[in-house]
Amino acid sequence: MARIYRFAALLILLTLASQSAATTRKLTVLVQEQPLILKYHNGALLKGNITVNLIWYGTFTPIQRSIIVDFLLSLNVARTPAPSAATWWKTTEKYKGGSCTLVLGKQILEENYPLGKNLKDSHLLSLSSKVNELSSINVVLTAKDVLVDGFCMSRCGTHGSGQPKTRSAYIWVGNSELQCPGYCAWPFHQPLYGPQTPPLVSPNGDVGVDGVIINLATLLAGTVTNPFKNGYFQGPADAPLEAVSACTGVFGTGSYPGYPGRVLTDKTTGASYNAHGVHGRRYLVPAMWDPQTSACFTLV
Ligand SMILES: *[C@@H]1O[C@H](CO)[C@@H](O)[C@H](O)[C@H]1NC(C)=O
Repeated sequence: MARIYRFAALLILLTLASQSAATTRKLTVLVQEQPLILKYHNGALLKGNITVNLIWYGTFTPIQRSIIVDFLLSLNVARTPAPSAATWWKTTEKYKGGSCTLVLGKQILEENYPLGKNLKDSHLLSLSSKVNELSSINVVLTAKDVLVDGFCMSRCGTHGSGQPKTRSAYIWVGNSELQCPGYCAWPFHQPLYGPQTPPLVSPNGDVGVDGVIINLATLLAGTVTNPFKNGYFQGPADAPLEAVSACTGVFGTGSYPGYPGRVLTDKTTGASYNAHGVHGRRYLVPAMWDPQTSACFTLV
């Protein structure tokens, strides 16, 4: 997934000087950015109860697993203080034909690296098909010491699907802690490219896993709103800007390229977050495009 920085509220002051025989005419043109529109391509979205199965590939500590499991649970528990992860997820319900409830399903631990530590897409596909059921999203999570084709080069994870009639999809996200935290775990690490701002303190004390949350959130929203490459997106179908990837780099109000925006800070730990979850957890969730306002929605 390309991390493309949108230049929000970019005003280009274009001064055109045109000379004629008698006078010099200065023309100032204010060019405003077009509103961001994700086009709906008339295909099915995921809806209803969707089971999320987790396939853990390689070493994850129980704490790391609970941070991610709690995030999934948080998306459907409304009784957490505002701003909540559940409110963030509700934005997906504004997409026509969508509205789904994610239900935690099976978890499979592949702790012994049965396919090695250098995976290709075909390996990810075979891992994702370890659970076979209708109306599900199988999520493959690769540990920090697993190399995956294209990881850190052009993507931090990916999503795809089986046949539309199965209403099933898959997601892969890698833990970037050792490989490219400045790319896939930004803003919790100094950015690899672009303008440099100090990193934020990650809300769960694990830069790699808090980065996984951002990418998992991005891919879950992209999966339910564009599961079969004919839902909501902008640009080419094989490299689309989707619900959250269209808002990449935005976490709070006032963001600009290299600056994630104003978010909440824990006074004791200095940790940054913008969403409460279950079990007292806090998360930093990325902005999501809101079809009703045609703008990137942030919780704070
Ligand atoms: C989803 O599951 C819940 C709990 O099992 C059930 O009450 C609800 O009717 C289901 N919703 C749909 C759309 O199937």
